[in-house]
Amino acid sequence: MVTLPIPTPTSPPATAKRKTMKALVYLGPGKKALQECPMPELRATTDAIVRVVKTTICGSDLHILKGDVPTCVPGRILGHEGVGTVQEIGTGVTQFKVGDRVVISCISSCGKCENCRKGMYSHCSTGGWILGNEIDGTQAEYVRIPHADTSLYAIPAGADEEALVMLSDILPTGFECGVLNGKVQPGATVAIVGAGPVGLAALLTAQFYSPAQIISIDLDDSRLAVAKRFGATDTINSSDGNAAAKLMALTGDRGVDTAIEAVGVPDTFLLCQDIVAAGGTIANIGVHGVKVDLHLERLWSQNITLTTRLVDTAATPMLLKAVQAKKVDPSQLVTHHFSLAQVEDAYDTFGHAAKTQALKVIIEA
Ligand SMILES: NC(=O)c1ccc[n+]([C@@H]2O[C@H](COP(=O)([O-])OP(=O)(O)OC[C@H]3O[C@@H](n4cnc5c(N)ncnc54)[C@H](O)[C@@H]3O)[C@@H](O)[C@H]2O)c1
Ligand SMILES: [Zn+2]
Ligand SMILES: [Zn+2]
Repeated sequence: MVTLPIPTPTSPPATAKRKTMKALVYLGPGKKALQECPMPELRATTDAIVRVVKTTICGSDLHILKGDVPTCVPGRILGHEGVGTVQEIGTGVTQFKVGDRVVISCISSCGKCENCRKGMYSHCSTGGWILGNEIDGTQAEYVRIPHADTSLYAIPAGADEEALVMLSDILPTGFECGVLNGKVQPGATVAIVGAGPVGLAALLTAQFYSPAQIISIDLDDSRLAVAKRFGATDTINSSDGNAAAKLMALTGDRGVDTAIEAVGVPDTFLLCQDIVAAGGTIANIGVHGVKVDLHLERLWSQNITLTTRLVDTAATPMLLKAVQAKKVDPSQLVTHHFSLAQVEDAYDTFGHAAKTQALKVIIEA
């Protein structure tokens, strides 16, 4: 007779020990609160539960709070950036194990659908920007990450994890939508309109290609001072409405080979059309809420290229290596630190950047 082995009892997963966790919940336009929420649970075999170690706030979170993002409904836990530790994995997860330190991508991707196979992860048929938008996000003690194998990145031992929080969203955004789409070249002339975290991320990563001139344009002198410190060769305060004329004076009346729009308002997109050189590229990054004119009556003959993009985070593995090799230091973007209990203060500080001079705030969960 065959005796079957008596199954040894396994300890329940750590997440089962706790029923609730703290998380920042969107409660409708203008409203949010740190609440006790149910612990996230695995829903698909390809999911992982990650214990959030550090997260941050994005301009898009402020857009949600203004009520600009209809896909994000009240009750949603906010946040789409962060680093953490894998707490639990589904049976289909093969690339990560419990205890691994990971960067959470703002874009979830299956890696298998038609758009993912093209590297266009932002348009994954079962992913894209869903975290902290259509599903619960990272401004919490724990988060469920769908398609974990292709939506998390392993953190190398000894890495600066605070710097890597910038790899969840803003560094790939500035690089992919601004620098790559803008075809920044050695010796080229580049203008970056907007010196917020995204414009500054474009500024840092544009320098991979050694452009001759990088002109940073903003309304805020303190942000322009940061841009100068981060490697801008020239800065222009555009509040007097004369930015185009000043830029033309700086470029021998030629304009720029690449104009990166990193604000998302009509004025700045129009400025890019005024400063792009013949044969140049306008790379739009900004999220636009209202219609903007495209002056084809003037630009039709100028051989220009116009690009738009939602960040794919396809460049994240390369950016991770560049950060590790100290070719770029995104930790310079971090200006403030808070605990999760202080998350409302963190929003106040981030939301009043002109006064607080905040760029990215780190929230330790
Ligand atoms: N395409 C994508 O995938 C993607 C991803 C993330 C963020 N974004 C977008 O990128 C944009 C920038 O993000 P951020 O977090 O750096 O925003 P931010 O609001 O922190 O920074 C914007 C900067 O633009 C400056 N500015 C505002 N109006 C201006 C004007 N008229 N002229 C010149 N400068 C002006 C502000 O002073 C500020 O420094 C936003 O629209 C954001 O939603 C796009
Ligand atoms: Zn974001
Ligand atoms: Zn996909």
